[in-house]
Parts: sequence; C-alpha cells; structure tokens
Amino acid sequence: MKLVTCCSFKGGAGKTTALMGLCSALAAGAKTVALLEADENRPLIRWRENALANESWDEQCDVFVADEMELLEQAYEEAESRGFDYALADTHGGSSELNNTIIASSDFLIVPTMLTPLDMDEALATYRYIIELLMGENLSVPTAVLRQRVPVGRMTVSQKSVMDMLSALPLFDPSMHERDAYAAMKERGMLHMTLQHMLANPAMRLHQRNHQAAMEELGQMRNFVEHALEG
Ligand SMILES: Nc1ncnc2c1ncn2[C@@H]1O[C@H](COP(=O)(O)OP(=O)(O)OP(=O)(O)O)[C@@H](O)[C@H]1O
Ligand SMILES: [Mg+2]
Repeated sequence: MKLVTCCSFKGGAGKTTALMGLCSALAAGAKTVALLEADENRPLIRWRENALANESWDEQCDVFVADEMELLEQAYEEAESRGFDYALADTHGGSSELNNTIIASSDFLIVPTMLTPLDMDEALATYRYIIELLMGENLSVPTAVLRQRVPVGRMTVSQKSVMDMLSALPLFDPSMHERDAYAAMKERGMLHMTLQHMLANPAMRLHQRNHQAAMEELGQMRNFVEHALEG
C-alpha cells in the first residue's frame, strides 16, 4: 500500500479537493483507495455520506477516521491488512505530531497552493517544513507542489509571476484548474461516477464537458503520482 498525503500550513489551499480528485481518478483506474481522515473536521466522512446519497461512491474506496495517533495507527494497519492499493491522507493545517508522523510515513507528498503571493509564501513554508522534518529523520520522500485553482482563462500578471516563482520547486506537472466540477465534488461525490450519471442523462449534456475536462486533468494527476511511485 502506497501512502500519498496532501499537506499545507494554510487552510483552504485545496488539500481535500485535490485528494478527492485523486481518489476518484485512482478508483476510475480500478485501484482500491483507503482515505485516512486526519482532519478533525471530517470532510471525507461527509463526502462519503453525500456521495452515497447520490449513488456516487465507489465501493473500492473506504474512509478511516485517523485524527488521533492511535486511530491513525489502527486505520493504517487495517487498510494495509485489507490490501488497499493506496492510502490517501488528508491532513489538517499547521504542524502537529500527527501531521509529522503522516508526513514521515508517506511515499509521496503533495503541497497544494493557489496562485496568490500569500498562498505561495505558505506553500514555501510548508515545503521547507517538510524538507527539514525529513532531513531530521534521515528520510527522503518525493514531494511536489500542486498548483490548485489555476484560472481556465487568462492569468493575471500576479498569478503569472507566482507561477514563475513556483517553478523553482519540484512541481506537479499537471495542475488543477478552477472548475465547478471540483467545487461540487464534496456535495455530489466521486467525479468519475457523477460523470457516468451525466452521460446516462441527456438533460445533463451541458455539464458533461466541464466534468470530462476535470476528469482528464485528474487522470493526468494520477499518472504523475503512479509514475513517481514507480520510479
Ligand atoms: N480546483 C478547484 N476549483 C474550484 N473550487 C475549488 C478547487 N479546489 C478547491 N476548491 C474549493 O475551495 C474550497 C477550499 O478547498 P479545500 O476544502 O479542498 O481546501 P483545504 O486545503 O482542504 O481546506 P482546509 O484547510 O479547511 O482543510 C472548497 O470550497 C473547495 O470546493
Ligand atoms: Mg481540508
């Protein structure tokens, strides 16, 4: 089982959304996914409830509450013994023993950031924190910054300069754009299943294209992660 974690010091950086998207893309690729809920607000538990109500939860995936050390250990062990291909951990903002343990145990780390100067500063601080933590433990875990909520249309001058500055860091090649399809995932459920329902319903034609573009983007993210984990 490979553990992939989203972390950022800043709240609202797009951690949970990136994780939901990656989960959907992995499940669409026939992978089994254990979601480790390390955020006490429990957005993933709510996600599953909403998804089940919309028949948009993929049964190859399960959510494990892991917002305390003991629960995290139990969740990880259970997920491993059930043979999940991937565990995806959603952390809360800031530093804590729980976050440190998850970071140090991960096989791949994702630091999502939006393209404002403030968000970039926080992403740099998170990145530096991760590197120092790993060096202190003599570990090396591939870590990539994910540009989140990139405008689909033209970027502002400020957004462009943040893009340029971020390119000094190891980057996720594909980025996530600002899309209604992503914002709606927490209410609707897994994107690949929502898309399947849409394809079966002619009245939803207009929404299909947006969802298809989002799903393609998530497929690229999944390929990037799978490739990084193979290498
Ligand atoms: N690519 C995107 N396109 C559109 N909306 C997005 C996108 N990514 C995130 N959002 C929206 O931005 C808000 C914050 O995202 P999210 O909850 O994923 O951030 P977070 O880092 O997990 O926040 P927290 O620190 O509270 O856990 C949510 O309402 C989400 O729907
Ligand atoms: Mg979150």
